[in-house]
Amino acid sequence: MQTPLSLALLLLLAIRCTQAVHYCAFTSTVSCTGDAFCCDDNGGFCCGQWPVAWGWSVQWVSLPSSTEAQGYGDGTCSSNSAVQAFGPGTQCRPGGGVQRFGSINWVHLGSKKRNDNATLPQECTIPSSFQYTDDSGMQNVIQITSKTDMDVIGSHALARNWTALAGYPKLTPAVY
Ligand SMILES: *[C@@H]1O[C@H](CO)[C@@H](O)[C@H](O)[C@H]1NC(C)=O
Ligand SMILES: *[C@@H]1O[C@H](CO)[C@@H](O)[C@H](O)[C@H]1NC(C)=O
Repeated sequence: MQTPLSLALLLLLAIRCTQAVHYCAFTSTVSCTGDAFCCDDNGGFCCGQWPVAWGWSVQWVSLPSSTEAQGYGDGTCSSNSAVQAFGPGTQCRPGGGVQRFGSINWVHLGSKKRNDNATLPQECTIPSSFQYTDDSGMQNVIQITSKTDMDVIGSHALARNWTALAGYPKLTPAVY
């Protein structure tokens, strides 16, 4: 009974059980709403490199207890962090039009120190998905598999080319 749906649900359960956090970079300078490039991981990674129109606000959804999240001006989580946020709970950090975040991460407190050391190596990943609302008001989440895809998806989103975006593999159920 390995239907794609049951596999997707199993995957979602597996992600839930290991407490992956969904965290995103938005175009808005004042709120964590609208189109976003998003990352999903179990902590200790750096996620970034999205096109320059994104990263003006950042959000971590349902951070577990005893976690710290960070946003950085650079694209590799390697300079001093510009903002911090602590779990538990969902945390949004608008950049206010002043701060753009080039990369974000989160860690379990105690498992890994905050990276204030420019020489500390960080594993930096690209976002795993892009979430957007098309002109019919439908919320979509599409999968990103390469940096090239990510940049092209960003261009299509800025051009409001929903037809092109609809051609990418959809992730269901939509996780916002
Ligand atoms: C931070 O960088 C310095 C060199 O600039 C190095 O000596 C030190 O070990 C680093 N600290 C960590 C935690 O990696
Ligand atoms: C949308 O993107 C597709 C694929 O790149 C392109 O062929 C098409 O011309 C674009 N449509 C608009 C309205 O820009």
